[in-house]
Amino acid sequence: MSVNISAFFYLLSALCFIMALRGLSSAATSKNGNLFGMVGMGIAIATTLFSPVVGHYFPILAMIAAGGLVGIFIAKKIKMTALPQLVAGFHSLVGLAAVCVAFAAYLDPTAYGIGIKGHIRTMSLFEMSLGAAIGAITFSGSLIAFGKLQGLISGKPLVFEGQHKLNAVLGSVLVLSILLFTLTGHLTFLYLLTFIAFALGFLMILPIGGADMPVVVSMLNSYSGWAAAGIGFTLSNNLLIITGALVGASGAILSYIMCKGMNRSIMNVILGGFGTDVSATAISNGGQSHDRPVKVSSSEDAAFILSNASSVIIVPGYGMAVAQAQHALREMVDILKTKGIKIRYAIHPVAGRMPGHMNVLLAEANVPYEDVLELDEINSDFGTTDVAFVIGANDITNPAAKTDKSSPIYGMPVLDVERAKTVLFIKRSLASGYSGVDNDLFYRDHTFMVLGDAKKVCDAIIKET
Ligand code: TAP
Repeated sequence: MSVNISAFFYLLSALCFIMALRGLSSAATSKNGNLFGMVGMGIAIATTLFSPVVGHYFPILAMIAAGGLVGIFIAKKIKMTALPQLVAGFHSLVGLAAVCVAFAAYLDPTAYGIGIKGHIRTMSLFEMSLGAAIGAITFSGSLIAFGKLQGLISGKPLVFEGQHKLNAVLGSVLVLSILLFTLTGHLTFLYLLTFIAFALGFLMILPIGGADMPVVVSMLNSYSGWAAAGIGFTLSNNLLIITGALVGASGAILSYIMCKGMNRSIMNVILGGFGTDVSATAISNGGQSHDRPVKVSSSEDAAFILSNASSVIIVPGYGMAVAQAQHALREMVDILKTKGIKIRYAIHPVAGRMPGHMNVLLAEANVPYEDVLELDEINSDFGTTDVAFVIGANDITNPAAKTDKSSPIYGMPVLDVERAKTVLFIKRSLASGYSGVDNDLFYRDHTFMVLGDAKKVCDAIIKET
């Protein structure tokens, strides 16, 4: 395949990736988005295989087959709630790939068209070192993120004295070794910068609490994109540059959206130890929370309250995902709708454990898109709503975010469920959510706790309705 034809197909594939991102931005178009992504990747792989520089097909096809099989196996086995750690695991591989490509390019520059051994172009050395450094940080950082999300390592922030200073020193040595490698082309500096970057990845992510890991995963996703773009420059591969930039930019935007949803800055996420401060629970409730009176209701009561309402807003959260209650919930809503009740869903930007988590689950259960509204669209309607049906959600409804300046979640935008005439909470206990902060709403006069697994409660309400 000539260079021009390759360039054309690479451009086509880049367009497909852009269309994929556009499609994935809403649940209604996400299937098409996925399809565009798959077609784009298919075109990219085929174009690469037909390029004149590829001499040996067997190892490439064998690796694609092996990787594809592992991918299919994992995708079929993974639980929806474990997606953040899966993404972290995959990103670590992208980072490692960037490091391997940088070393391969250094050891055999002729194959990559960037000079001859000992005389590699300065610009290529710089790109290579950037790819290796960002790739190594992504690799080790993603491994830690995976371990924390999977519960293999403690979700608590692992902090020690002088940690920020050590990171600053290591960061400076990293910049210096990138500079020295670019100027001298010496392999020792490539080893040094890769080693320091690996260490920095570990040290930067270990102090971050489990609650912030999804933001970290998205940030590392962004890094892996920039690492790929850096390697794209080394390989003079426009597609890799474009794709890497797309991943880098979209990961950065996603991190920003998540931080905004939690009212945190990215620096606060990186430097803070949020989400694991157990004392926060006691402080925000004077340590008395579980002694306070709570109205516990049965699913029969819940069915009665719902059937007699004229408007209901459903607030789904992480617990709905854990219980896989979305199908039962939709069935329940369908029955209530036949009674003429107006029912809509309120989606908080950080409900669940990843962006769009709730939208995906509701779409899977065929909930009509027009019934699903974002926080800004529906928050003002709680005041005129009979029942807020909070299913497996907690932090995203916690009024402490609005009123308690000492609360770790203060400032996070929340759904104003307490303004509804009646609030029904469907969860298994009075336990706190991901942030570890108690929810004062459980103890309010117009709140009824229906304790149990979200799916089982929905099934029971269906029977009683
Ligand atoms: P959470 O505040 O974590 O609350 C979920 C609740 O679900 C828990 O309190 C738990 O209570 C309940 N639950 C668990 N399993 C259940 C089951 N089988 N049946 C019924 N209930 C069950 O979730 P949320 O309200 O969705 O808020 C999300 C949190 O994650 C926020 O703090 C947010 O900042 C954080 N976060 C989200 C993201 C993204 S992008 N979504 C990223 C980073 C951080 P019980 O144990 O009592 O049942």
